[in-house]
Amino acid sequence: MSLNVIELRKDFPILQRETSNGVRLVYLDSTATSQKPLPVIEAMNAYYRRSNANIHRGVHTLAEEATALYEAAREKIARFINAPSARQVIYTRNTTEAINLVAYAWARANLKTGDLVILTEMEHHSNLVPWQMLQAERGIELDFIPVTETGLLDLDAYQALLARTPKLVAFTHMSNVLGTINPAAEIIRLAHAAGAVTLVDAAQSVPHLKVDVQALDADFLAFSAHKMCGPTGIGALYGKAELLEAMPPFLGGGDMIKEVKLRSFRANSLPHKFEAGTPAIAEAVGFGAAVEYLTSIGMDAIAAHEHEITAYALERLEEIPGVRVFGPDAAHKGGVAAFTLDGIHPHDVAQILDKDGIAVRAGHHCAQPLHEKFGIPATSRASFYLYNTKEEVDLLVNGIYKVKRLFG
Ligand code: ALA
Repeated sequence: MSLNVIELRKDFPILQRETSNGVRLVYLDSTATSQKPLPVIEAMNAYYRRSNANIHRGVHTLAEEATALYEAAREKIARFINAPSARQVIYTRNTTEAINLVAYAWARANLKTGDLVILTEMEHHSNLVPWQMLQAERGIELDFIPVTETGLLDLDAYQALLARTPKLVAFTHMSNVLGTINPAAEIIRLAHAAGAVTLVDAAQSVPHLKVDVQALDADFLAFSAHKMCGPTGIGALYGKAELLEAMPPFLGGGDMIKEVKLRSFRANSLPHKFEAGTPAIAEAVGFGAAVEYLTSIGMDAIAAHEHEITAYALERLEEIPGVRVFGPDAAHKGGVAAFTLDGIHPHDVAQILDKDGIAVRAGHHCAQPLHEKFGIPATSRASFYLYNTKEEVDLLVNGIYKVKRLFG
């Protein structure tokens, strides 16, 4: 079923605005953060207008309402990724914090000097730096599944790495630069056969594809609300119950305890064991509203729409002389088109496009090693979501021709 994009764009007030030049906004930066629909904005607004209180800490009406809203959102998020239970969904600040939670609480309890962690060459910094920090602290070893010229993971090289009995395989489900959708179920199956635990960085996949943690058999899976129509400041870590149960807490403080004495504490049960201090309550409510919104539209319809837009964008971009688009063909890719334009710096491209209201991101997109691999310091990146149209792709293409004319 195709999306009625003209209608659903009305749900996003920001898409109706003009930029400082008085031109209509063409928002092509959803990979950095998505825009927010009215049901999300209104759910957060209603929470602050009606129900604001601290959670799990009071018996008064507002505290009970706030707690119920916070926990109901967790249930919705759990259903969205088909988690067996909401207690396996831990609220974090974002994907980065979710990965750090695994690196601190699981890895520091389970990895020792010489243990191998397999990552990939297409990781975002948030799935590189926590492991580099652990390498410096613990002397673990890191190795990387190579990326091919076409932007796919080299699965033969992965098989060879698995022969070295890694303890953890941590990989991105969808690259934020190449757009590559990695065969997560297969990567996980092979990792398990080699005895490794798996961590999926699903920051770019959960917003765009139907992700089922049980079908994937993922051990840990991390994602952020703000890339999926929800607010900033909240994300989630899904984990298998036995792994989460066995992990020591990460941050200490209120809410994550059952009992505290002057010299000791007993940790709370899941999921609260990992949620110290007053959390992002309104943001959790917004996160729940976001998954409800996406569910009401249908993840299959969203994925199909993005596929259509991406295929069209690749076709149109590749017809522009001097444009090089990175990553695989549309069949293996989500809604991301990172490109270079011969002889013109990506920041100049983004700045000139911005004058026409076209928002793209320029830089290394927090994936510096991947850019190095392709021998470039930066790319311009257009990315697409449920609210983007082919007309917006045409505006991008016209804008790139304009950049070329300006640079002679
Ligand atoms: N991961 C975000 C991006 O790619 C920050 O823009």
